[in-house]
Amino acid sequence: MTATLDTGITKDQRGRVARELSKVLADSFAVYQKTHGYHWNVRGPEFFSYHKLLEQQYREIWEALDDLAERIRALGEFAPQGASTFANLTSIKDGDPEKDAQEMLKELMRDHETVIATARAAVEIGEAADDGASVDLLNARLAAHEQHAWMLRSSLSSK
Ligand SMILES: [Fe+2]
Repeated sequence: MTATLDTGITKDQRGRVARELSKVLADSFAVYQKTHGYHWNVRGPEFFSYHKLLEQQYREIWEALDDLAERIRALGEFAPQGASTFANLTSIKDGDPEKDAQEMLKELMRDHETVIATARAAVEIGEAADDGASVDLLNARLAAHEQHAWMLRSSLSSK
């Protein structure tokens, strides 16, 4: 037996918001994986500060993955699962351990901008559905990714 769900948001709208949240989740998961990989593989005279910065960022993003997935479940939809499902939901590519440190940071900064654009589009859909809880979560993710992007941008040499 399936219990019905009545939270004042139509099934259609819940589905629409959940699809947007799934895209934000997939982008976030991709940037999480790349950040963790670059935490391992970054090299150079600034190694330790980059290694620590990336650790701080991947830990923050890791926590958020769960919040996003559980919000999708609260809307009555399944959270995406599996590598190929995630790959189909994001345009963010895998990292390349051969890159030098500055290239890694720049690539991550651009990836955060991708997450930000996806989250901003999701906010619009959430607002149209009057889904304040999803909008609150998405706005918090916007602030976090803008902060991550700022720290990466400020670590780039300005040549
Ligand atoms: Fe580590």
